[in-house]
Amino acid sequence: MTEVLTADAAGIARAAALLRAGGLVAFGTETVYGLGADASNPAAVAAVFDAKGRPHFNPLICHYPDAEAAFAHVEATPDARRLAAAFWPGPLTMVLPRRPGCPVALLAGAGLETLAVRVPAHPVALALLRAVGRPVAAPSANRSGQVSPSTAEHVLAGLSGRIAAVLDCGPCPVGVESTVLDLTGPRPVLLRPGGAEAEAIEALIGKVGRPIPPAAAEAARGLRSPGLLVSHYAPGLPVRIDAASVAADEALLAFGPPLPGAAVAFNLSETGDLTEAAARLFAGLRWLDAEGTRRGLARIAAMPVPARGLGLAINDRLQRAAAPRS
Ligand code: TXA
Ligand code: MG
Repeated sequence: MTEVLTADAAGIARAAALLRAGGLVAFGTETVYGLGADASNPAAVAAVFDAKGRPHFNPLICHYPDAEAAFAHVEATPDARRLAAAFWPGPLTMVLPRRPGCPVALLAGAGLETLAVRVPAHPVALALLRAVGRPVAAPSANRSGQVSPSTAEHVLAGLSGRIAAVLDCGPCPVGVESTVLDLTGPRPVLLRPGGAEAEAIEALIGKVGRPIPPAAAEAARGLRSPGLLVSHYAPGLPVRIDAASVAADEALLAFGPPLPGAAVAFNLSETGDLTEAAARLFAGLRWLDAEGTRRGLARIAAMPVPARGLGLAINDRLQRAAAPRS
């Protein structure tokens, strides 16, 4: 049985006690719900991979209540300190070298010499992290490959019975995962576009290396069956992106004025607001999947979203949702 905890003092204390005892507790952050485990407990970290059905030991992000706690476990570069001052608490994850004696289980970092750290901007998450008093490893709280959760109901839909508890923190205000920035090389590299805008990061520390978009990376590899590598955030129905029209057997994920003729539609933002669209993305994909499936539709058609600001993160997630499945 998975306990559903209210985000009050008693609920936070119970969640912290479960985490300290090695249990798995999902909790809300400003981006998406995370599946938390005591990062210094290797068995708890291993249980996270098991509960998610994550096939590879993909490294996890460690969550801290403040920059000082994070930088006690990783070496902060000057850029990292400036970014922390500007973006934390907030949706930015920094990959930095582990410090000697770092107590985080090697499995949490998939055996790498580096560690991804972040300070989330959610009052309940911060209270929980302070109460736990240990680093909390937390990937998104969904079964591997599925759409990330932005409500406690989404978490339960995928993980009920597989985790000790979920701390209900309400809907996540940002709605897409954090931006992941690698600061371990000669030049910072954006590993994943997310809630912290790349333009704002570059305004602070200069140009960062951009990742190759998933679709282009796939084309460059020339793989016939690349779904294994790229497919992610995938609803049950297939997804078609950059839709300029919508067919009778398609459910429409709209952005701005909707295309005419859709039997079922979910509008990310009627006014074309990227912040609103990011916050509604995963709930919209889930709703269209359920409603489209119920009505026997063939796929979800997604309208184009501009590739700037949070649009970079939205497009990354849509391209992955549309990638060939393995
Ligand atoms: O918003 C978020 O980041 C959410 C909330 C819960 O904080 N978490 C999240 O975690 O999205 P997850 O596990 O779904 O994504 C972690 C990403 C992966 O792309 C992983 O490869 C990358 O961070 N990552 C983690 N540690 C890394 C490391 N040491 N080096 C490079 N990439 C790393
Ligand atoms: Mg994830």
